[in-house]
Amino acid sequence: IARPASAAMSLSFGEIPHALDENLHIPAGYTGKAILRWGDPIVAGAPDFDAETRDAAAQAQQFGYNNDFIHFCPLPEGSAASDHGLLVVNHEYTDTHMIFPGFKDAKEALAGATAEMAAYEQAAHGLSVVEIKKEGNSWAMVPGSKYNRRITLATEMEIVGPAAGHDRLKTSADASGKKVFGTMNNCAGGWTPWGTILSAEENIHQYFGGDPAGTAEAANAKRIGIKGEPSYAWGKFDARFDVTKEPNEPNRFGWIIEVDPYNPDAKPVKHTALGRFKHEAATTVINSDGRLVVYTGDDERFEYVYKYVSNGTFDPGKGRSNSDLLNDGTLHVAKFDAEGNVTWMPLVHGQGELTEANGFKSQADVLIEARRAGDLLGATKMDRPEDIETSDKTGKVYVVLTKNDKRKADDLNPVNDRAENKWGHIIEMVPPMTDGKADHAATTFTWSAFIKAGNPGDAAEGAAYGGQVTDAGWFANPDNVAFDASGRLWIATDGFPDFGVHDGLWVTETEGENRAVTRHFLGCPRGAELCGPAFTPDGKTLFVSIQHPGEEKGANFANPSTRWPDFKDGVPARPSVVAVTKDDGGEIGA
Ligand code: FEO
Ligand code: CA
Ligand code: CA
Ligand code: CA
Repeated sequence: IARPASAAMSLSFGEIPHALDENLHIPAGYTGKAILRWGDPIVAGAPDFDAETRDAAAQAQQFGYNNDFIHFCPLPEGSAASDHGLLVVNHEYTDTHMIFPGFKDAKEALAGATAEMAAYEQAAHGLSVVEIKKEGNSWAMVPGSKYNRRITLATEMEIVGPAAGHDRLKTSADASGKKVFGTMNNCAGGWTPWGTILSAEENIHQYFGGDPAGTAEAANAKRIGIKGEPSYAWGKFDARFDVTKEPNEPNRFGWIIEVDPYNPDAKPVKHTALGRFKHEAATTVINSDGRLVVYTGDDERFEYVYKYVSNGTFDPGKGRSNSDLLNDGTLHVAKFDAEGNVTWMPLVHGQGELTEANGFKSQADVLIEARRAGDLLGATKMDRPEDIETSDKTGKVYVVLTKNDKRKADDLNPVNDRAENKWGHIIEMVPPMTDGKADHAATTFTWSAFIKAGNPGDAAEGAAYGGQVTDAGWFANPDNVAFDASGRLWIATDGFPDFGVHDGLWVTETEGENRAVTRHFLGCPRGAELCGPAFTPDGKTLFVSIQHPGEEKGANFANPSTRWPDFKDGVPARPSVVAVTKDDGGEIGA
């Protein structure tokens, strides 16, 4: 299908075709460089990556596994520098059978895991903070920089907000209920107006072994997916990951955490006021009245979309202490109706159904079991809410629903209206506008479908874009999104290989005649999904996370489906962050 040329189109790159092979694909005239690879030494004194040996102490000083969310923090802080900064990167999870030699598949690796392997995996989770510099048109990290830091399952963190110190957060190792070691399954994230990073703890259920049935937390554990069938063997070696021994430990995960990238000594905090579920991301906006609003999704089939509204207002003069805005406010859950309205319902103890009679003794209970609170309020069950981003240019909010193949034809709702939704969709929410300023704190928005993903050439899929897309312009399974400096929306996918096409990056304008008409910019090597698109402030560098390259059905350490990015025999595929620049030094995409 040829797309008519349009003078209004602000994107001029040569679109790449749909493909699926061992390589990374970007348009002609661009260069992509893997600047941070799993195992690269980042902290001073860290050893080099070893293709075969897995040492937990080494990994705790090296770039972690399965990079996801990325944010570029300019240096010096507060500047708009686009050639020097800190990259903050989430390390979502580990693939045991891709990391360690000798296992056929994930099942064998789970059965054969040792304490040493568990320790290594815990060191490969968390976050990295790494100083990077651009020389000419090429980025490189600064090994051993004073800023470089790893955050792992061993990093001490403070729990803050309404659930901090609650009995349900206390364990035999922590009688205070306020001190926890580590973070895990950090998926997407966000950043704050005061210079810190937010990181979302997502699929935390899969790390906990033991059957929770019969414990005081049985129903709560079940609601978040803990059922004695972990994907990791950690519970065999460490009691805190065995819910029969420590039934409260899971209540200390599933939160939004805050990290100060500019201060390597700062203790990360977990903000309980934003609720506990499988957080995908946390996107902040300073509302027109100065309050802080945070949008966050719960990535599971039939789960909800949330937003948090602070009570206090942002004060640029208060620096890091604005973080208190995340401890005092109201979490809301979304209900979408057929008339095109979104109602934001407050999750407040004592209001409506959120009472002691329903098992909520305090606000802490409401936050710990935010999903059950949303159930009782009749929130709209979504097709896996992943990233949510707001446009600085228009104030509109984009909610990405990745897919839901379990959506039944007799269980559709206005905003999730395709049965067996294998393709995913993107919803546009519009807050009320006063004098051109969006009121993100308002309790009613409007919504409409922005893109229904899938192949527009197959009418049965019900795909819908803003106009005619090219052969390569359609996609499936949107996951992470990012806005560039010009207000264009970049859409990363997770799952498109199910349709025989690599995951990658598509871009569209959100206004004008090319609104919701996507074009294909980047394709991943086999096995990988694309995460964390992030830009420098000048829009001239795009950072992307290539997550789990080489990992697909039948693959393992010895037989990855690609050996990207090193392509050396015996060296496994390595999840990596790629810096994409335009060879003429111009803006990405333009
Ligand atoms: Fe970690 Fe929902 O992707
Ligand atoms: Ca995701
Ligand atoms: Ca994003
Ligand atoms: Ca994903």
